[in-house]
Amino acid sequence: MRKIGIFGGTFDPVHNAHIAVAKAARRALGLDFVIMMTGGNPPHKRENKILDAKLRHIMLKLAVRGEPELVACDWEVKRPQYSYTVNTLKFFSKLYPEGKIYFIIGGDSLEALDTWYMPEQICSLCTIAVYKRNNLHGVIEPIRKKYNADIVEIDGEFLDISSTALRADYDLMMKHTPPAVGEFIKKYGLYRDHGSDMEVLTRLLKPQRLRHSIGVAKLAAELADIYGADRDTAWRSGMLHDIAKNIDYETSLVMCGELEAELDPVERTIPALVHPKLGAELIKCLFGLTEGEITSAVRWHTVGRQGMMLLDKIIFVADMCEEGRSFPGVEDIRKAAHENLDRAALMCINSTIEYNLSSANPVHPGAYAVREWLLKNL
Ligand SMILES: [Fe+2]
Ligand SMILES: [Fe+2]
Repeated sequence: MRKIGIFGGTFDPVHNAHIAVAKAARRALGLDFVIMMTGGNPPHKRENKILDAKLRHIMLKLAVRGEPELVACDWEVKRPQYSYTVNTLKFFSKLYPEGKIYFIIGGDSLEALDTWYMPEQICSLCTIAVYKRNNLHGVIEPIRKKYNADIVEIDGEFLDISSTALRADYDLMMKHTPPAVGEFIKKYGLYRDHGSDMEVLTRLLKPQRLRHSIGVAKLAAELADIYGADRDTAWRSGMLHDIAKNIDYETSLVMCGELEAELDPVERTIPALVHPKLGAELIKCLFGLTEGEITSAVRWHTVGRQGMMLLDKIIFVADMCEEGRSFPGVEDIRKAAHENLDRAALMCINSTIEYNLSSANPVHPGAYAVREWLLKNL
């Protein structure tokens, strides 16, 4: 019979003790594997601000890389509703009808089982495997009796650390998270107060790319004044538009999958076309931005789209002709940008198509459609 461990948690962030517990449970109980389940919206943490689930799940995947018996699972994250343990257990019981499910929890969680949603059903669906975080004396027996629960203990001395403690002490977090997780936290500036976009961009972008982004922000703000868009929103969109540009192609594709950035088949095969859509999703996770003007401007800044909104066009044009750009014809586009935004956008798309054709680069079919749309609207 298959023996499957399920170890759920907010994993905000996942740390070394989580991994140690999962591995100890697997060894002690002879489990085939342990499913580590990133919690989506834990009901008991509704009021607290927790890091975006997609980012927490990426970190969990990094943490279990190289641990073949540990599987990072985002089933709860993908569910639209709040994630109750009982639903997770029902799902996996059906998935493995011949299997035996061990639900791995800490002693403090077991103590609070009464407050969980449908504790009787939880106990009927699994064996509870409890690891000690503190003294379990007097905790197990009452629950065993009350719910007729099958409870086993996982022996072992586990480091007494919690994600809450790590969030309060950045150095401690670096010390007690797997190296790949620590690097991810550092790189994306997680668990820091994002004082400014600049702080995050400085870490993610090469200096030249950062200078370009500042150039786009400056021109976008100028164009916003001319055409009646919000100056601050234009500035921010310009700063953020290339946030994903320096992430390598392989990693970008993986992150697109995790963050649910939908690439069309052409974008998928052209590395330069991955960063706009990834960037749009990334700024939602990192800065809590909701879908709106900024995400749209970031998403469409390279190829454009039919029906572009004012800010889409501003960033599209500013990206092409900010002060750092130098290519034949850029002065004409810059001039047009200050006189007629649609004409400038058309010049940009023509220039992109011409450049790609002359360099034998593929042209995204959307570029021709945008060109047609702009021509119709001039
Ligand atoms: Fe770009
Ligand atoms: Fe750019």
